Order: sequence, then C-alpha cells, then structure tokens
Amino acid sequence: MVKVNCLNPIANCGLDLLTENYEKTDNFQEADAVLVRSAAMHDLELAENLAAVARAGAGVNNIPLDKCAEKGIVVFNTPGANANGVKELVIAGLMMASRDIIGGINWVNENKSDEAIGKTMEKAKSKFAGREIQGKKLGVIGLGAIGVLVANAGNRLGMDVYGCDPFLSVEHALNMSRDITLVKTREEIFRECDYITVHVPLLDDTREMINKDTMAMMKDGTVILNFARDLLVNDDDMKEALESGKIGAYVTDFPNPKTANMKGVIATPHLGASTAESEDNCAIMAVREIMDYMENGNIKNS
Ligand code: MLT
Repeated sequence: MVKVNCLNPIANCGLDLLTENYEKTDNFQEADAVLVRSAAMHDLELAENLAAVARAGAGVNNIPLDKCAEKGIVVFNTPGANANGVKELVIAGLMMASRDIIGGINWVNENKSDEAIGKTMEKAKSKFAGREIQGKKLGVIGLGAIGVLVANAGNRLGMDVYGCDPFLSVEHALNMSRDITLVKTREEIFRECDYITVHVPLLDDTREMINKDTMAMMKDGTVILNFARDLLVNDDDMKEALESGKIGAYVTDFPNPKTANMKGVIATPHLGASTAESEDNCAIMAVREIMDYMENGNIKNS
C-alpha cells in the first residue's frame, strides 16, 4: 500500500480521502509520497521510495525543486485552491489601510463608560477618519488565480483597476472583468496607482521588487499590499519609506521585526489561506494529485 507522510496537519476531508486509500505514515524515510503545507522538507536523501511531493498551497519555495528533479520526484501544488481565501484577506487589508478600524476598536475598548464615550466620541470620529477606496487606482501585479480575483473584487468595489502580468494565461484573461486596464510593465503600475498589491511567485526577477528604487517611482502615500511572498519586499527600504511618508501604509501577511509596530503597518501571520474552505480545497486537491499520479501516472499542477 502507498505510504504518505504528512509534514503538516491537513484538513479532515483530505485526511479521510487519504486514509481511505493509502496508509498514513509518520516516517519520512519509508514514504512513497509527502504532503506538505509550510514545513521545511526533510533531507530527500533519507527517503528512498519517495515518488511525489504535494504542496497544499500555491507557492513551492519550501521545496527543493532542483533536488526533486534530480531524483525524479514529481512536485505538485494546488493553484487556485486557496485563492478565494487569500483574496478576501487582501480586500480586508485594503479596507483596513483606508479606514482606521483597529484604532476605532482600540478606542472603544479603552473608553468603555458612557461618560467617557460621550465626552470624546466627536474627537475620536475625526482622529480615526479615513478615506474611501471607490475611484482610487488599484494596481495588481501578477494575474494568476489570486490576482484575477483581487482585480475583479477591486473593480466591483468601484476602484479603477490596473493589472500587469507578462504571462497572463488565456484562462485567466477570460475570467477578468473587461473594465480592468492591462498594462505592459509593472513600472506603469508603480507610477500610476494609489494601492499596489503583488501576487507573483518568488523568482529572481521578483525578489525584492518593492525596493528603494521602485518605491521612488510611486506617488507619496501609496499603499502596498503583500500577501504573496515575504521576500518580494525589501524590509529595510520599506522601513525608510514608511518613516518618510513615501509609503502611506504597508499591509502584509509576513510580519517582520524591521517594520513591526510601525505606524502604517498592518501585519498578519500568513493567514491568507487559513480559512476552513481553503484548507479543505487544498487538502483534497493535494491528495487527489498524489492519487492520480500513483494510480494512473497522471501529472497535473506540477
Ligand atoms: C500558498 O502558497 O498558497 C500559501 O503559502 C498557503 C499556506 O498558507 O499554507
């Protein structure tokens, strides 16, 4: 029987499907397949039988792809399976960068008595005043499964949406609203947009694409959102840009000590895909990929 080692816990529906068909093992060394979310991979030299690795998520940067290729191990991911979960958190971040929801909630918690509220609420209303996103320019860099959903959501919220992706697939282009303006280069987005959200994998070309030079192209007060990969942003440069006011807010799913607690930073601990629905979708897709490969030799999303 095929033995599968899960390096991270997976949603129950995926686990049920897995254990109905295969044996779940805690021993990496004897595994025929490995299922992983964000954990670091063990040394591949230890796993003599390993034929497939499935990542329950989109990014594969925690998997040594070269080493897998060398050893003939097929690597799968689950593109799109958590896209809606990530999109919803991006939109929440967009809203939180525009309206001081956290400031308002903290104020209410600190001013609980009727008397305190009565005395200072008018002041609080101006202190926490925000701005509206309708009519503002949203730039989406990377129009894969998540980027397209974010672009469409921004469009529905009345934003003027610009998108950029040198590899935009026909499938994703067809899923996009016609009201989204496609531009050729990310520089056009850096120059034009009030809100810029990045949805690209971490590659040589995208590593630290948000840096001193690219932020210098942006309008003062631009809001940057990064729910994709930590190293897309140079955190030293971001710190400086926040201090100078060049960047109005930095919303990120990758907390970093360099920018922690800074004014304008809204950081979450990589929660984009942490919804019941996304976790179910990723687990089921990853298990099916392993099964389809083990049973039929089919390779999809590799
Ligand atoms: C992804 O690459 O899709 C995310 O990192 C998924 C996750 O949070 O596990």
